[in-house]
Amino acid sequence: MFLEDAVISHEVINSPVRSYTEWDPLEEVVVGIVDDATFPPWHPALEPVLPTGQHETFRREQGRPFPTELVRAASRELEEFVRVLEGEGVTVRRPEPIPQTRPYSTGAWTSTGMYAAMPRDALLVVGEDIIECPMAWRSRYYESLAYRPLLKEYFHGGARWSAGPKPELLDELYDLEWSEPAAGEPTRLVVTEFEPTFDAADFLRFGRDIVGQKSNVTNDFGIAWLARHLGEDYRVRIVEFDDDHPMHIDASIMPLAPGKLLVNPERVPKIPQMFKAWDMLPAPTPVMPDSHPLYMTSKWINMNVLSIDETRVVVEAQDEPMIKALRDWGFSPIPCNFRNFNSFGGSFHCATLDVRRTGTLESYLD
Ligand code: ARG
Repeated sequence: MFLEDAVISHEVINSPVRSYTEWDPLEEVVVGIVDDATFPPWHPALEPVLPTGQHETFRREQGRPFPTELVRAASRELEEFVRVLEGEGVTVRRPEPIPQTRPYSTGAWTSTGMYAAMPRDALLVVGEDIIECPMAWRSRYYESLAYRPLLKEYFHGGARWSAGPKPELLDELYDLEWSEPAAGEPTRLVVTEFEPTFDAADFLRFGRDIVGQKSNVTNDFGIAWLARHLGEDYRVRIVEFDDDHPMHIDASIMPLAPGKLLVNPERVPKIPQMFKAWDMLPAPTPVMPDSHPLYMTSKWINMNVLSIDETRVVVEAQDEPMIKALRDWGFSPIPCNFRNFNSFGGSFHCATLDVRRTGTLESYLD
């Protein structure tokens, strides 16, 4: 027998997903994993964002695992990070490992994966909505599958669960002629406007304002899709920094509390007008030695900290200048070893997805 005219509830009640800012008190967080971390197949989209010194390595190692010792060391640091967060009263969730070396295909192309280390890149939480992002790298096409058990659970618990339009990632999406622009030339981005793409890490949540950037993975089409998806409660606002190789906004600016913005002194010479009532805290120069491998980022990954609330912030244990600066600015830095994890392309903000923070939807920017 069929139920006649059964109305399925559309209400979002008591959602386990609810986060409006980067600094409200953290209740539940997803922390990534480095299991099976694999160099992605070489592709033109990687060229503008990998450190120049790493291109050779990526071309050579494609499809092979990252060095075992480094994976082990990063894994131990992730465990330490989890203990730190739990010690501060935060519920920590982890993705399910998915095979990263197994080839997959859309019919038009074939790839292997990379990792599930950076939930910040693949998933965007805005209010009670958790969004799977249409990522521009073929090697990240199925990355959100590692989070599917969590996504299903959150949906059953009452969250909204969305996904950007599944991209095709055909050659038309990429500027296959991409090359380093000459000095003084404008930044050249490798993604075209063929279809909407964006990574969650190109956006930061400031209540009603979602501040984002165009990048080598986020195009105007993707930004427009997100703005329309979020609707009238939110304003998506785009900023541009002095960054010739933009990908992910969270090593350029990081809000730590209302009115307190950590900024990259090399990339943010002038603070955007919308932050005019905010204090700017220039990030101290990174102390990471040159000998430490950073496969996918600059040393400015030191400013990729995670706020537990408006005072507590997790910082890399060996980054003394950052610990001191944050203390001087009135924060309570919580040190955690993370250098080996940093080698994989991110730090505490990248490695996490704040699923739930206490707080309500407010305005913080001009
Ligand atoms: N592109 C940034 C830099 O090299 C790194 C940002 C990493 N962020 C992330 N969410 N994976 O400085």
